Amino acid sequence: MKAVRFHEYGDPSVLRHEDVEQPVPGAGEVRVRVAATSFNPVDGNIRGGFMQGPIPVTLPHTPGIDVAGTVDALGEGVDGIAVGDDVVGFLPMDGNGAAAQYVLAPADVLIPAPKSVPLADAAALPLVGLTAYQALFDHGKLTAGQRVLINGAGGAVGGYAVQLAKNAGAHVIATAGPRSSEAVTSAGADEVIDHTATDVTAVVTEPVDLALNLAPVAPDELASLVTLVRPGGVVVNTTVWMPAPSDEERDVRGIDLFVRSDADQLAQLVALIDRGELRVDVAERIPLAELPALHARASEGAVHGKVIVVPSAD
Ligand SMILES: NC(=O)c1ccc[n+]([C@@H]2O[C@H](COP(=O)([O-])OP(=O)(O)OC[C@H]3O[C@@H](n4cnc5c(N)ncnc54)[C@H](OP(=O)(O)O)[C@@H]3O)[C@@H](O)[C@H]2O)c1
Repeated sequence: MKAVRFHEYGDPSVLRHEDVEQPVPGAGEVRVRVAATSFNPVDGNIRGGFMQGPIPVTLPHTPGIDVAGTVDALGEGVDGIAVGDDVVGFLPMDGNGAAAQYVLAPADVLIPAPKSVPLADAAALPLVGLTAYQALFDHGKLTAGQRVLINGAGGAVGGYAVQLAKNAGAHVIATAGPRSSEAVTSAGADEVIDHTATDVTAVVTEPVDLALNLAPVAPDELASLVTLVRPGGVVVNTTVWMPAPSDEERDVRGIDLFVRSDADQLAQLVALIDRGELRVDVAERIPLAELPALHARASEGAVHGKVIVVPSAD
């Protein structure tokens, strides 16, 4: 089968589109014929060797944390899932990923794919959808009637975060540049602030219950978000190379988010999609052979929105 792998850490040129032996599922594992994986910014950091502490991979490594595809073979002891099922999942980050024609997955990370979107497009959901969900509800404890500021709402996580916060009955204030403002508005933001023209701290005058940072802002900009949060509120930060700011005197907590695979939460997101309450946005669909070029573009900051990566069917 074809896979994209890297045999050593480094810049995008270490990625090779090559022939690899088809993997055989072990006990508790499922082999999935991949309809698509997706690109996540963390893929570039893993390839670059910057995540060897938190995400220790074995070389050669196949990237691709998200998978959507069709169950192709079952390992010993797997039940509740059958060959031919269409599934979606958040794969273990330290194992081989789905930038390949086939991937092995622990059976318990896979759930039925949404029926209302093309199977390949479902690969745009797991990691970013769960990041948004866990930020808002596990860490932010967001409830109806509360106010949330989503900084960096124009990206892949932001699209889900705005929709989920709005669905939960929150008042959503989102920052987005001109290229993203329409998408953020259509996702349901009540207020959209152009971060390229306006200082967010100058225009958010009524405190928020939760500030969620998704943007690679300067550390002082990140720190300033804490001033917008009411006493007892929370700042949740996904750009974890900078610690989330907090203010003990005002009882504002800062939380660094590390997304985790959660099949039950993913199933809730799939149910929202199939009820028409959560939209899956795909910015680009590229063939697997072009993944190295996509990494190169991402390293130059030239990727906007969610890109799914599609292996050939043969
Ligand atoms: N810790 C974790 O577990 C975890 C999980 C998932 C993601 N992440 C991280 O979370 C971040 C968001 O992920 P993503 O997939 O949504 O990334 P993304 O698609 O690259 O989106 C980031 C968005 O930030 C916006 N932005 C850039 N500079 C900004 C500024 N100065 N002020 C406000 N917004 C700004 C851009 O939107 P415009 O179009 O408006 O310019 C961009 O679309 C990434 O850094 C990612 O690595 C972490």
